[in-house]
Amino acid sequence: MAMSATPATLNVLLSFPSPNQRRLHLGTSNQSSSFLRTHLVNTKSFSRTTMTVAVNASRFENITMAPPDPILGVSEAFKADTHEMKLNLGVGAYRTEDLQPYVLNVVKKAENLMLERGDNKEYLPIEGLAAFNKVTAELLFGTDNQIILQKKKRKSVIDVCVFCSLKVATIQGLSGTGSLRLAAALIERYFPGAKVLISSPTWGNHKNIFNDARVQWSEYRYYDPNTVGLDFNGMIADIKAAPDGSFILLHGCAHNPTGIDPTPEQWEIIADVIQEKNHIPFFDVAYQGFASGSLDTDASSVRLFAARGMELLVAQSYSKNLGLYAERIGAINVVCSTADAATRVKSQLKRLARPMYSNPPVHGARIVANVVGNPELFSEWKDEMEMMAGRIKSVRQKLYSSLCTKEKTGKDWSFILKQIGMFSFTGLNKAQSDNMTNKWHVYMTKDGRISLAGLSSAKCEYLADAIIDSYHNVS
Ligand SMILES: Cc1ncc(COP(=O)(O)O)c(C=O)c1O
Repeated sequence: MAMSATPATLNVLLSFPSPNQRRLHLGTSNQSSSFLRTHLVNTKSFSRTTMTVAVNASRFENITMAPPDPILGVSEAFKADTHEMKLNLGVGAYRTEDLQPYVLNVVKKAENLMLERGDNKEYLPIEGLAAFNKVTAELLFGTDNQIILQKKKRKSVIDVCVFCSLKVATIQGLSGTGSLRLAAALIERYFPGAKVLISSPTWGNHKNIFNDARVQWSEYRYYDPNTVGLDFNGMIADIKAAPDGSFILLHGCAHNPTGIDPTPEQWEIIADVIQEKNHIPFFDVAYQGFASGSLDTDASSVRLFAARGMELLVAQSYSKNLGLYAERIGAINVVCSTADAATRVKSQLKRLARPMYSNPPVHGARIVANVVGNPELFSEWKDEMEMMAGRIKSVRQKLYSSLCTKEKTGKDWSFILKQIGMFSFTGLNKAQSDNMTNKWHVYMTKDGRISLAGLSSAKCEYLADAIIDSYHNVS
């Protein structure tokens, strides 16, 4: 490992009169000289100027190279591949049948409205755009949900709205990731020592988020490799075994990476156990509308918990369902049992956000507010979302049929049809996933997850060949 050039090393070097002597010294000295070898010996004169270059050796020498991100790094490798059949099934981003990125028509319309109105670029308040916060909570909990209805206090003969607090603290976040990170900061500050339980496996960034926020986490069983399905008993047992008052991170719908969701009956049991143990449910909703094609169906797990009067956290993202990946638009919602607590929680979320990023970006927030707040655009959005979810369902079906046709050993691939959302967990191990990439040019994460949103029906057969070969010929 190269070390920085210390003043002591430099003094020793300066005491040698000729470059050759200095070269000899560096050749026998310890690791600390590797930097100097490159930067000093190759120079003709050992003048003060050269020394200045060395003294300015990076103070960051001790920082090692970080590994590439396991998901975003896949896209980099994909770009460098020139094979005509290559497929990028790593990142969870929707593609058209021609495998091109897709900007929703409603997004373009909302942006045109913004241009026509000449919206300005002033700072938003710390909590974000009010119109966005209102619609995002409505979309999640349902417009008629008690927790988001403003309370009216009766004053004399007429009703006067003197008290307008809600039982949910909603603030705009930097998409799903930023909203989760803000919630993690809240947990770290106000629930010291509390543990977050995450599913095994889960979206890779969950662990990074809680690690960086210095929040302890452990895993609950979720995936059963024998059935390529949900290990429901394991999940329940682990949630029961967690210390009372833990935070239980749940994927609201379209579990990433497995694509396996609990049934409505199983959700009820999960809620029972969480309530018994006085845990706090913490939902990550990154795919509302994208799993089933219906915004309401995909929010049903969250609504089921809220209807029980439970306190809960929900992080939302509009990356997938509105295709606003780069706009970084999402929200964190904290449902409290009193409006007063919600007001205080909101004030603290703002306090946490201020030194992190000051206030959130406006563009994506306006798009969401325009689409969800305008009945015509809202209805068009639902149609487009159904179209996207429908395309994914159809390639899922086609991939399954192709696998069945090519399968010669009787292996049952029907688990692919039981999974939901953007992803399919193929059950391929790391060596098999490597074969998919190295031999077949199919880029995917090493846990065997493929994003069906990056697959076209024209390439289903090819993908099935790759899976069959990797599964049967690589151990
Ligand atoms: C489960 C889950 N949560 C959160 C996110 C956050 O995404 P973003 O920060 O782009 O909104 C993702 C994205 O892939 C995800 O799969």
